Amino acid sequence: MSEFGQAVRHFWTLDWSATHLNHGSYGATPKPVLAAQDTVRQEMERTIGDFFNRQLPKRMRSAAAELAGYLDAETDDVVFVDNATAGMQSVIGSIELKPGDEILINDQTYNAVKNIARYEAARAGAKVVEVTLPFPVEDDGTSILDAFKAGLSPRTRLALLDHITSATAVVMPVERLIAAAREAGALVLVDGAHAPGQVDLDLATLGADFYTGNCHKWLSAPKGAAFLWAKRGHQPWIHPPVVSHGLGKGFVAEFDWTGTKDPSSYLAVPAALAFRQTFGDSRIKARNRALADEAGRYLAETWKTRLGSSASLAGSMRMIELPVKGGTAPDLRLKLWQDHRIDVPVNALADGIWVRISAQLYNEMDDYRRLAAAIRNL
Ligand SMILES: Cc1ncc(COP(=O)(O)O)c(C=O)c1O
Repeated sequence: MSEFGQAVRHFWTLDWSATHLNHGSYGATPKPVLAAQDTVRQEMERTIGDFFNRQLPKRMRSAAAELAGYLDAETDDVVFVDNATAGMQSVIGSIELKPGDEILINDQTYNAVKNIARYEAARAGAKVVEVTLPFPVEDDGTSILDAFKAGLSPRTRLALLDHITSATAVVMPVERLIAAAREAGALVLVDGAHAPGQVDLDLATLGADFYTGNCHKWLSAPKGAAFLWAKRGHQPWIHPPVVSHGLGKGFVAEFDWTGTKDPSSYLAVPAALAFRQTFGDSRIKARNRALADEAGRYLAETWKTRLGSSASLAGSMRMIELPVKGGTAPDLRLKLWQDHRIDVPVNALADGIWVRISAQLYNEMDDYRRLAAAIRNL
């Protein structure tokens, strides 16, 4: 029997009568991490004043230090935010855009983030420029770089990049895209919602101006744990979506307190990192990537359809075109859940209907065989 898949399912509270192929959307928090979060909550409620007045500032920084170590960043360049959406809002909303400035996005930019860009640009009389990226993408990312470069101009104030796209599960050639944007004189904000825990991260050398990422997706942290990293020189003018007591007192002071709330998801991030270490962080990433690759190739061969990207641009998620014509993606997704108890995102893209599979430690090939059989029965 494999050491993963069935063998590790006891770590999660997921309902195993269903097939979970959608770790990418909301993650799934292992029991030891939920237990650590619960301990933080009990400590908070037992010593409430001392917890908020004295313990919390230190504990926030000590959790940030562990996360920063994982991201290869300096502790005080990393602050917690509730989710990647909040990280993106913090940066886009803090930039003083002028009329005529441009924000570069692409057709695969996460929709909530497109909305932030449009909202902030409209308030300033600035413009959002959207380029179309190739999909499916069969090369090493050069076609993505070319499409991205076509949208850069001397007016590009800010370029938004997804490290791993949501709708198409492509691991973008971020280093090359960042270099191109910076060469054009633009600031670069990377949306790494899916990246921590799925691909290696080295923020010290990546070259971005800002990077936000979720801990609650692939890193196994509880919901509501994400981070924002900013280059030192930018930090004084970056503000959280909620401005509070820390205004003007620096990046860490502004973000570490944004009003009374339950900080247990942030403080449980070290437990999530420790949970990963029981298996080995690199081993988890390699195993999940290999399983997503095997499952993706198996499904594409079974259905005689296409994969969404070459293996060099893939992580723990893969896109596979479905062998179906007609019907809508939401109907199909609902049918897979209602008739087969399979949770998997279904999207209409590139004249076809595609599924996005995820591979987390609890998945195994039988999960994808069930998906293949369910589609055959449709
Ligand atoms: C690329 C991208 N950005 C942002 C988000 C939003 O993440 P959250 O809901 O945690 O803010 C997602 C979620 O899937 C995403 O895929």
